[in-house]
Amino acid sequence: MSPRRGPGRTRVRGLDEAPPPGAAEVFVQHVRLGPDAGTDGYPYDLPVVRALRASGGLAFDRPVTFLVGHNGSGKSTLVEALAVALGLNAEGGSQNFRFATADAHSPLGEALVVRHGRRKPRSRYFLRAESFFNVASEIDRLDREGGGPPIIDGYGGVPLHERSHGESFLDLFVHRFGPDGLYVLDEPEAALSPQGAMAVLARVHELARAGAQFVIATHSPILLAVPDARILEIGDDGSWHAVAYDEAMPVVLTRGFLADPARHVAELLEDG
Ligand SMILES: Nc1ncnc2c1ncn2[C@@H]1O[C@H](COP(=O)(O)OP(=O)(O)O)[C@@H](O)[C@H]1O
Ligand SMILES: [Mg+2]
Repeated sequence: MSPRRGPGRTRVRGLDEAPPPGAAEVFVQHVRLGPDAGTDGYPYDLPVVRALRASGGLAFDRPVTFLVGHNGSGKSTLVEALAVALGLNAEGGSQNFRFATADAHSPLGEALVVRHGRRKPRSRYFLRAESFFNVASEIDRLDREGGGPPIIDGYGGVPLHERSHGESFLDLFVHRFGPDGLYVLDEPEAALSPQGAMAVLARVHELARAGAQFVIATHSPILLAVPDARILEIGDDGSWHAVAYDEAMPVVLTRGFLADPARHVAELLEDG
């Protein structure tokens, strides 16, 4: 299948093409439900978790994998569980963070079985937009305790509570994330301006070419344009399929809206 592209649109690799030449082998190749997984109640009754069971698992075949789907489709549940299965803190941070402000994470992470590639990541990190404030507080607390080089130096040196939400995200991408790292991100665009999202797009691409792997749940039509990324769209029945950039729902809906905002607003208000 050849890549589908419209005039003037971002070129994105077609669905059946091999990974880009020179792409490093991914760290996380596959994730599936293990024998300890339950069957009833949250998270096991979510359509996407049922689909995980029925399909035998989710494969990661590119350095950058995006998960897209409506609110409530289970993206956060899935990426949080992947982070936990990788030994990361459910509220975010690196493998060295162990804090919990709420015992709210699902048991799914403990029930997942991850297939790792031969390479080992140089660092790992889980960015969860909604609880990054707590990560910033934890860095402050650990640095007050002392006992080692300041952790904040790895984030550019300015305490993250003294940065705007978006600036602190950019610090993370620029200073903390590096080549050969494994990064699981939940809606990183939440704090970013359009320019910030474009800067993150460029940084993700740069790091992916330098051996990093990203798994990113997002609604951002900007971020989704990272070249050579795999976009997996979760449908209403919980199953997912690979889509090209131009067919991804956030891109189709945003493009349609921006082509004629007045008409779309009128239709939305009529429906209400
Ligand atoms: N702790 C929880 N207990 C019960 N249901 C939950 C819990 N957390 C999330 N859910 C439900 O699981 C569904 C998927 O949530 P989530 O993974 O956050 O979706 P997304 O990130 O795709 O918007 C939602 O319908 C939500 O209400
Ligand atoms: Mg979410």
